[in-house]
Amino acid sequence: MAEVMPPNMLNDRPRTPAGLLSNAEKDRLIERGFLGLYRWYTARSQETRNWNADRSFDWRSMNQNLPPELITVIQGFFAVEQYAPDFTSSLIHLVRRSHGRSHFQMRWGSEEEKHADAWENAVLFSGQRSPAWIEDYKHRLKSQTWELPFPDAIHNLVYTVFQERATQLNYLNMMKIAQGKSEKPHLRGIVDPVLAKVAQTIAVDEAAHYNFFLEGARMYLYYYPERTLEAIRNVIGMFSMPAATLIPDWREFSETVYRAGIYGPRDFNRDVMQVAFRNLGIESRKSLEEGIRKTREVPDFEGGNFATTAIWDTFDYGQVEGDVKRLHVKIEEYEKGIGFDLYDPTTFIENPAVPKKDGQAADD
Ligand SMILES: [Fe+2]
Ligand SMILES: [Fe+2]
Repeated sequence: MAEVMPPNMLNDRPRTPAGLLSNAEKDRLIERGFLGLYRWYTARSQETRNWNADRSFDWRSMNQNLPPELITVIQGFFAVEQYAPDFTSSLIHLVRRSHGRSHFQMRWGSEEEKHADAWENAVLFSGQRSPAWIEDYKHRLKSQTWELPFPDAIHNLVYTVFQERATQLNYLNMMKIAQGKSEKPHLRGIVDPVLAKVAQTIAVDEAAHYNFFLEGARMYLYYYPERTLEAIRNVIGMFSMPAATLIPDWREFSETVYRAGIYGPRDFNRDVMQVAFRNLGIESRKSLEEGIRKTREVPDFEGGNFATTAIWDTFDYGQVEGDVKRLHVKIEEYEKGIGFDLYDPTTFIENPAVPKKDGQAADD
């Protein structure tokens, strides 16, 4: 796929009209952005989120009387996260030609691995599952392999934006329950500071993941609006949580999660889709569908690298441009702190296809 091809493999692309960025140039800019963001992310991860699944929590103090439904939920969280090696290896393979993205996936994988271990500890220290049961459960889970939900890098990137946000939301709602703040009367009054700390710590990681993938999706949206919007449309049309088809007791898990007020279709619409849309400058699902439809009515030049004007009405490109610029300011500051700017600074390059303020595309 184009987005994972190095620039020297892009020579057979249609000719680019003068003044517009070629796909090779766009791919190079996106790669530089990912690389800078990845370096910034890693430094920050080590400085602020360097926790340990065993030593950062007082496991012996975990509540031994949690209701069985919460154990079902914790067990489900563990089941999803323990596919971390599958998630990581598949994604690394997909983006292996990109330094910024493939190295990031290793760092990301090391964080997801901690989530799996922390949730497994929570299952064990709840006192409600024996080590033999856990071993058998793990064995059943590991007999299945998680595979990429989409064949190409851009769809998987967009999928991950929504998935990380959904996961963060699940953990934040678990934290609320463990703090005694559930909105469900039957779960109010449960207090488990250890569980609350675990859920909160992992939710902070998931927020960082969401932000990384969001910044990446914004760069794609800025340089490749049409294919990114289509990917967003396709992903939300068939979104489900990872490993839903692999986990033997998934149905019980998802119903329990729903009844506990942790996550359901309404939460996806309101707290996942709409939040991500806002962050991507998309007004609503309806406006997204409408925009894509209108874009298709405008004659294209046989799949060439031509920006149609309709695509720019589908989202707030000014907002996205501002966000991509801000990302580059962050990267520039980081690189100055190290001294990278003395050699090869990452700089923001405007996409000339973006319409100017008076509504005219620069090269139309
Ligand atoms: Fe995770
Ligand atoms: Fe994550």
